[in-house]
Order: sequence, then C-alpha cells, then structure tokens
Amino acid sequence: MKKNIPFGKPIIGKAEIDSVNKLLRQPILVHGQKTLSFEKKFSDYVGCKYAVAVSSCTAGMHLSYLALGIKKGDEVIVTSQTHVATAHCIEFVGAKPVFVDCDLETGNISVESIESKITKNTRAVSLVHFIGIPADILKIKSLAKKYKLYLIEDCALALGSKVNGVHVGLFGDVGSFSFYPVKHMTTIEGGMVITNNKRIDNFIRRARSFGYNKNRMKHNLLYDVDLLGYNYRMNEVEAAIGLAQLDRMDYIIKRRMQNFNYYVSKLKDNENIGILMNKKQHSISSNYCFTIILKKRLSKLRDQIIDELKKTGIGTSIYYPGPVPLLKYYKKKYGLKFKSFPNAASISKNSISFPTAPHVNKSDIDKIVFNVNKVINLFK
Ligand SMILES: Cc1ncc(COP(=O)(O)O)c(C=O)c1O
Repeated sequence: MKKNIPFGKPIIGKAEIDSVNKLLRQPILVHGQKTLSFEKKFSDYVGCKYAVAVSSCTAGMHLSYLALGIKKGDEVIVTSQTHVATAHCIEFVGAKPVFVDCDLETGNISVESIESKITKNTRAVSLVHFIGIPADILKIKSLAKKYKLYLIEDCALALGSKVNGVHVGLFGDVGSFSFYPVKHMTTIEGGMVITNNKRIDNFIRRARSFGYNKNRMKHNLLYDVDLLGYNYRMNEVEAAIGLAQLDRMDYIIKRRMQNFNYYVSKLKDNENIGILMNKKQHSISSNYCFTIILKKRLSKLRDQIIDELKKTGIGTSIYYPGPVPLLKYYKKKYGLKFKSFPNAASISKNSISFPTAPHVNKSDIDKIVFNVNKVINLFK
C-alpha cells in the first residue's frame, strides 16, 4: 500500500487530547491560567524575560510594530524572500516596506544590501530566519545599533534555532513565532511574541485584548481601555495544546536534525542541486525543512519532481512561491522589478522543500532522494 507522507504533519498525541478534553470540561476558555502557564513555559524554553501568547505569528508581528510606534511615513527594511505576513504587518501600520534581496546560500536577508537602503525615514529592519536558518543576526544587530533602528525578528519557522547559544528572537527588540499546524510545534493556530523589554510586553499584552487596562480593572468586571486594541488573544484550548507540545520539543528538534543530516548525506555530492543550509559554526538551525535548489539548467524539472513525488504520496512545499515585492499587491503598489531581487527570484523558481518533521524516517528520505534523482537522470 502507498504510504502517504505529507509535507507537514502535526504530532497530536494522547497528552494533547487529554489536556484539551480536561480543559473543555471546565468553564474558563479564554483569559485563563493555561495561557499564563504556556507563556511561562515558553519563556523558560527560549530563555526570554517576557512571552505573550497571541492568535498567530501575524497578529504578534502586527502588535510588535504598534508597540514600537512604527507608523505612516516610516520605512522598514525587510527581506524579500519570506511569507507575505512579514511585509503585510508593516503595511498594517501604514509604514512602507523597503525590500532587499536575500543570499543564495541561505535565503536570508542580504546584510550587504541593508545599509544602502537606509534613509532618514528608516525606523526598523525586519528579518526572517529563513526556514529556520539563523540570519546573520550579529552583523544586522550592529547595523541596527549604528543607525538606531529597531530590529524585528520573524521566527515563524525557527523555533529551536540559536546563535552563540542564544535563541533567535532575542537579538532584536521583539521576535514572533508561529504555531500553525505544520510548524515545529502547533497550537492549531497561534503564535508567541518574545521580548526582554517590559514596555513592549506590557503594550502587546494589553493590545492583544482590546486594550483592557488591568491596572484599572475592578473585580474583573469594571475595566478601562486606554489604547485601540485588537482581539488577538490565544484561547485556553490552544494554550493547553501548546503546553503538551513544548514537552515534545527536544524530541521534535532532534528528529528534524537527524532527518536533515540524512538528506545532506544523500544529496551533498549531487552536482545538479544546491542545498540551503546553515554553515556558520556558532549557529544552529532547527531545520524546519530540507530545501534543494535545482541548478538553472534543470529548473524546468521542478514541477516534474513535485508531480513524481506526489504520485508516490510524498508532499513537498515551496518557500516561498514568489519574492514578496513581486506579488501582485506589492508590485502594483511599489512597481518593483524582478531584476532587483535575483536571488529571491531564483530560490522561488528553483527550490523544492522536503519534510524533516518526525513523521518522516530514513526509508521515506531514501524514496524522496530516489525520485529526485530519477527525474534528473531521465532528463540528462
Ligand atoms: C516567515 C513567516 N512569517 C509569518 C508567517 C505567518 O504565520 P501565522 O500563520 O502564524 O500568522 C509564516 C507562515 O508560514 C511564515 O512562514
């Protein structure tokens, strides 16, 4: 029988089911202890002072820009090779995303391109740790310091990634994680904002819940609202799942590492492809996925490889289908051209990402590698 290997598969086991079951039998489903416990456990896990649970990574990043006071007339330098959410959150607050290209070896923001984009209106740099590979964060941090810019880290796919032993998300002013089902861990939908800045924590904590000011609440019944907040809360069911998932994190990351290394051992000498990976000694990638870049002359084989794998029940993904500035909304608004983002365009066009999550084992990877080689060899 054909085994189905999806690109992403959340690990939902007895622990998650039992805790949701228990939770649903009691009356508090939002604003409860589970969310507080999840925040505490997450902050211990990554080693930050403050963690605020939110309804998604996107919600967390939107609140981060609000917390930093970024607004209309401001510019934010942002990587072009990312999920639209990274740029959308800049647009949400009326600021202008100023896109820069990425590096070909990692897909991360090109540090060399940042400085030339800084103007008198630049207020922040927004970076993504691309598919878990830590960006060149120390250099970017010193640039941000030099020009007095805020630094916002999109860690949606980077839970478990570190630089010099410090978790990503803690180099900038604020970092956001995603718990969407195929991420390192899930709460179904959900996200977490981390910071070491008490003021940012306090702002996001209130802005995720309509702007309620708890200091001005009496008996939880009378409250005052002193900012224009949203409903971006995480609920108790999601937090209960998150608590159980955190217990699995070490195992999940170990399995992703093992799988990633096995792909590398099988494909590193294949001259038809490149591999996106962390090569820095002091950095650790938690290997969200394994991504190959087909050499230019083979780029037309990408769909064939994806289809061949699909026929054998193997799911793949593309990170990301197009550089954000070239997606219709941004292209129409800012009129940017393909030639400004050659590396991002090349990764979008020539890459395929394969699963590394624990539902994949060595024989699945053998099957994936076999099919990749089969298509390439037929072409040659
Ligand atoms: C880099 C990046 N940022 C943000 C997001 C959005 O995350 P969420 O769905 O939790 O809002 C994603 C989603 O995949 C992503 O890849």
